[in-house]
Amino acid sequence: MESMGKEFVRMENICKEFPGVKALQDVNFSVCSGEVHALVGENGAGKSTLIKTLMGVHQRTSGEIYVEGKKVEIPNPIAAQELGLAAVYQDVTIAKHLSVAENFFLGRLLKNKIGLVDWDRMYHETQAALDELNIKVDARQLVHSLSAAQQEMVIIAKKFFQHSKLLILDEPTALLANDEVNELFKIIQTLKERGTAIIYISHRMEEIFKVCDNITILKDGHTVTTLKTSETDENDLVSKMVGRDVGDMYSIEHFPGGEVTLEVKDLCAEGRFEHVNMTVRKGEVVGIFGLVGSGRSEIVRAIFGADPVDSGEIILHGKKVDIHNPVDGIHNGISLLPEDRKTQGLALGSSITNNINLASYDLISKLGFINVGTEKQKAQKYSDKLRVVTPSIAQKVINLSGGNQQKVVIGKWLCRESEIFIFDEPTVGIDVGAKSEIYKLMEELLSQGKSVIMISSYLPEIMGLADRIMVITDGGKVMGTLEREEFNDERLLRMASGLETA
Ligand SMILES: Nc1ncnc2c1ncn2[C@@H]1O[C@H](COP(=O)(O)OP(=O)(O)OP(=O)(O)O)[C@@H](O)[C@H]1O
Ligand SMILES: [Mg+2]
Repeated sequence: MESMGKEFVRMENICKEFPGVKALQDVNFSVCSGEVHALVGENGAGKSTLIKTLMGVHQRTSGEIYVEGKKVEIPNPIAAQELGLAAVYQDVTIAKHLSVAENFFLGRLLKNKIGLVDWDRMYHETQAALDELNIKVDARQLVHSLSAAQQEMVIIAKKFFQHSKLLILDEPTALLANDEVNELFKIIQTLKERGTAIIYISHRMEEIFKVCDNITILKDGHTVTTLKTSETDENDLVSKMVGRDVGDMYSIEHFPGGEVTLEVKDLCAEGRFEHVNMTVRKGEVVGIFGLVGSGRSEIVRAIFGADPVDSGEIILHGKKVDIHNPVDGIHNGISLLPEDRKTQGLALGSSITNNINLASYDLISKLGFINVGTEKQKAQKYSDKLRVVTPSIAQKVINLSGGNQQKVVIGKWLCRESEIFIFDEPTVGIDVGAKSEIYKLMEELLSQGKSVIMISSYLPEIMGLADRIMVITDGGKVMGTLEREEFNDERLLRMASGLETA
């Protein structure tokens, strides 16, 4: 906080209207050099819109923007870049078939005196930037050989290398494992010391309290207030964001001990996972914990029928079943909320109504005719329960905020009313208020005797909700299963890193 310098960007009375939606109304926001400033608020509050207005992606309806005290116009993203503004969006864009150095110099390759591309100098300068930020990546490495986390670090390093004076991180930790988050925080610290201004958007409270100096809260397109991090706490912040007390959101009622619904016996798929055994009872939440990329998603995809297996059995209600594709999975009463929701879950150009019913049309149609009344009623029900922020359920999903799009995918699978719900990282990108709604919905399902399998890399969530946690390490190797009374965050992390078995 001591390193905080002069005000770098100031946004005054910003308004932004989309057809039928006032996304921003008289928003005031500013950030100083060397400051990490959090931008928080519920899904649909206007965070991404504010950032896109600053970055020249959207044009504001009214209001002023100042950079280093000078009033500026930012008609497009190139103008933003020229002013020293840079943003790392959640769906990172980087050329995967090129090396790290080529990505750094994309579009402006260095030439030597006789006009040839000067590879040595490019590698050298790129490596220097990576080293300076302590990023353990070789400048010559191809980007597609890097982990998602490393790719994100490389993008940040590139912005640093381009002398950006402001860096915006929109939910940067969504795809990162715990130790990678710590790496990211170190980089943020270095950039801060260099005087870079940083805007940090996240739904994870403890991250905000770890790295941010100040916090601005948006609600329904308005600025609620700006606070010093040292003068507030999680409860205070959440109640200002949500407008009500959320309480201890991870404590749900547990209903263990019902009859067995699903048994997985020695499921193997070469190169993806091996010897997976699992028993799931009515009313139970079975957690699967593992680092991103460890093979946890592959396991649940196979149970659902989305991927083939080499050997093993899936037993439902005591009977062995053959599940070869997702249609088999759905007809056997299994739903899967996939991790990669943008590509696997939504029809972006269609309405909320359409999307929520997408997996249930066979249940509400007769002789090829859809019961339109039921369709609307179900869509309204789940849209309300999940508090989707929208003028109407006729709205196209593409126009919703990121978090609200995710709520729609969750609504789609709840609407199917299956027996077994598999949730792969259900709350990434979802605001605290909506998270607690989702947990309440889960609790409701469990009380009706349904079962849940949940993948989460977020420890407070999985430890709070699961009755049992199976831990996976690299290559889909099962390190063991812990019962609720054995849960311990350090132990779970050690097991996930392959250092310890149960
Ligand atoms: N292109 C668009 N057309 C119509 N409405 C839009 C468009 N983009 C955003 N909106 C609306 O503007 C409001 C603010 O959305 P925004 O994406 O800024 O929210 P956010 O705070 O980033 O939420 P999240 O945490 O879910 O990402 C929402 O009501 C959203 O539906
Ligand atoms: Mg957003």
